[in-house]
Order: sequence, then C-alpha cells, then structure tokens
Amino acid sequence: MTTAHNPGPPLHLAGNNAPVTEEVTVEPSEVIGSVPEELHGTYLRNGPNPRTGWSPHYFAGDGMVHAVVLDGGRARWYRNRYVRTPLYEHPGESRLALAFDPATGHVDHRVSTANTHLVCHGGRLLALEEGGFPYEITPELDTVGPFTFGGALRTPMTAHPKICPETGELVFFGSRLRPPYLTYYRAAPTGELLQAQVVEVPRATMMHDFAITRDHAIFMDLPVVFDPAMAAAGGMPWRWDDAHGARFGVMRRDGGPVRWFEVEPCYVWHTMNAYEADGAVTVTGCRVPTLWRDGPQDVGGGLPNLHEWRLNLATGTVAERRLDDTAIEYPRVADAEVGRRNRFGYVTSFSLEAEPERSEIHKYDFAAGAARQTHRLPAGHTCGEAVFVPRRGGSGDDDGYLMTFAHDRSRGTGYLAILDAADLAARPVAEIRLPVRVPTGFHGNWLPSGVNAARA
Ligand SMILES: [Fe+2]
Repeated sequence: MTTAHNPGPPLHLAGNNAPVTEEVTVEPSEVIGSVPEELHGTYLRNGPNPRTGWSPHYFAGDGMVHAVVLDGGRARWYRNRYVRTPLYEHPGESRLALAFDPATGHVDHRVSTANTHLVCHGGRLLALEEGGFPYEITPELDTVGPFTFGGALRTPMTAHPKICPETGELVFFGSRLRPPYLTYYRAAPTGELLQAQVVEVPRATMMHDFAITRDHAIFMDLPVVFDPAMAAAGGMPWRWDDAHGARFGVMRRDGGPVRWFEVEPCYVWHTMNAYEADGAVTVTGCRVPTLWRDGPQDVGGGLPNLHEWRLNLATGTVAERRLDDTAIEYPRVADAEVGRRNRFGYVTSFSLEAEPERSEIHKYDFAAGAARQTHRLPAGHTCGEAVFVPRRGGSGDDDGYLMTFAHDRSRGTGYLAILDAADLAARPVAEIRLPVRVPTGFHGNWLPSGVNAARA
C-alpha cells in the first residue's frame, strides 16, 4: 500500500515499469483482428528487468528480451528470457566491482546489462547495451555469449548501430570512459570487422546514438559529460556541463578526419535518420534543451521534440529548427531508408503526466512539412517504440506495418499491436493479447524467418 510514509516503488519500478518475475513461453490468449498471413518472423524487444526486483536507475536493470513469433497468419508464441550476463549471474553485485580490476586497471567489457536494443547482422542476433560487448542470443532467446567480432572489438559497442541498406555493412561506435574515448567501427555484411578507427574527442560524453548517410557517419559530442567523482560515489556518473558546448562531427564512412559543426547546446538520445542532399548532411532526431542539469533524477530539462540539423558541407554552417512541438521519442524509419532521405518517420508520444495514461504513435510525412498522423491507443493503454515492418513487395516507406508491445492497465496484461503504417488512424490490424504482462522497455526489431540461418 502506498502511504505518506511508504511512498511505494520509485517511478522506474512502478506500474508497467515493474520487472516481471518469471520467464515464460505461452500462447496468446486472444487475437483481436487478424495477423497478416505474409508475416513470417519474430518481433523482438529488449528492456531492463532487474533480477533482484530493484535497480538504482531505470537504465541499470538486467536485460530481458521479449519475443512474439508470427507465422502464416498465426501468432505462435510469446517468450521472455534474460540475457545471461555476469550481472545476471551475480544478482545484486556492483557493476563496478564485477567489471573493474583495481590491481591491473582492466575493465571487463563482458560485464553488460545487454538491456537496450537488438540487431541482427552477419547471421547473428545481438543484444546490446552501450557499456559492454554485445551478447549473441538465439531467435529462441537462449544466450550464446559475448560477441567481439573475433576479438577485434576492444571497446564497448553502442546499442544503436546502423545497417546500411545499400552495402549491408554494420556501422557503429564504441564509447569509453578513458582515452581513447571514441572508436568508430565498420563491419562487412558477413560480420567481419573491416575498420576500427579512434575519433579524437576531448573527454568522455554520453553518446547514446549517432547517424549515417550513404557516405558519412555523424557523431554527436553533446554536453552530458562523465564525472569521475560521481562515479566514485556510486551513482549515475553523468552530468550536464555548460562549458562543454555541443557539436556534430561528420566523417567519411571509410575513414579520415572528422569535420565538426557547432550546434545549439542540447541532448539527443536518438536520431531518427540522416541523409545527404543539396550539399548538406541533414540529421533529424529527438532533442531536449538540457538533460540532468541538477543530477540524474532531474526531469526538468524539457521534453523531446523532433528537430532537424542541416550541416552545410560547403560553408561549415548549421541551420537547425524544431519540426514539431509534440513531446515524442523512439524515432524509427524503415530499415530500407536508413541513411537516405526518408519520406516517413515514426515516433511514440512521450509525456511524464501520470493521467490520462495513454500512448500515441505518430507518423511524420516529410513530403508534407512533417505533417503528423496519429494512432491513439485506448485510455489506460501504453506502448513503446513502434518498429516498421515492410509489406512483402511493398513500395514506399509506409507500405507495411508498425509493431509495438502495449500494456492494458485494466487487465494488467500486455499485447503486441500491429498497425497499418499506411493508415495509422485505422483500428489495429491485430492485437495479439497475452496472458502475461510485458513491462515497458527500450528498443527492438523485426527478424524475418530464415535470416538467422545465414550462419548455419
Ligand atoms: Fe536508445
């Protein structure tokens, strides 16, 4: 019971943020609408689910992957499994103590929550968290182990790598708290690491995401900096620093110097996309004016809005503008549009208001001035990131479906919502109702059947 003396769990462990206590494999309890017959594959989503039931921050929970398999018009099963990391195997132990050897100064990058995202590349399915190595898992969600590109990965790996739709390359970076702070990587479609290049930056900043175009990688060096004193005190070691400034760095994907562009100070958790046209690199993303100015529990930095930065390669100038004033996050585009000029982009509403608890998914049409079409979930229903899945033989980056896990507060259970991306205002194509709760999480992807067999 929540009283003045017992305020209940912190927000990041309350409601549908609370971890689930069991790993299950279950069939759906009900399907409302119909599952499109052409969908053969698995929708996977990662998120924090502290094994002990408690974590100091939402980001710190052990990674749990949730999956629904769709096959020929049927939803076969839902399954949730922890990623078996050293943090999972040693519940309640400090990450610093597990990862850092004070005698040698060695940091063990196998110590990861693996709780943030999933990517399938080179025939491997990887669970990702930016503080450690990726963890390979099977499509059935069993953990294979840490994956290091055959030992070539020497740093942690971002949870937001990009797959180039043109070359099939996996393009990513790794951040460290000690020099070299930033390393850029490029892997062949087969998974072999082709390039590892240190990118000079003045200090460790929280670099959660980046962007690519066909020819360039774009890094975001923003004023949320690592504070060793905060780390020593055992808390979230990041704080806002007005003195750091903010800049975007543009580098050719095959290497070379980085060209830096000063931007208005801000923080960007997630880019939506980037593309090159008219002599400029244009980046879109979700921008907040400040983040954690008064510490990691400070939520007063403003809510994220969709923003555009146009980096003029001839003049070195930046033109930036807010594209919409709606509070949104979890930007996605069709996989086929990564690094290209996407017409459509998808986001989820982002509000800290407790009531009414109700999510919206928005679709932006950039051919119409970022006009917005909205799918509003019923009252009491919330959802996370919406992943675009193309229709077979589809044309255009809204010819397909959006998938997201949703929570029905009145029933206390979860469901997989499948929406028609071309007609977002319509009723869901299908709601695959589950007999269990699927906690709020971070990011995921659609894994078509057969893709992971490439390595077999
Ligand atoms: Fe993220």
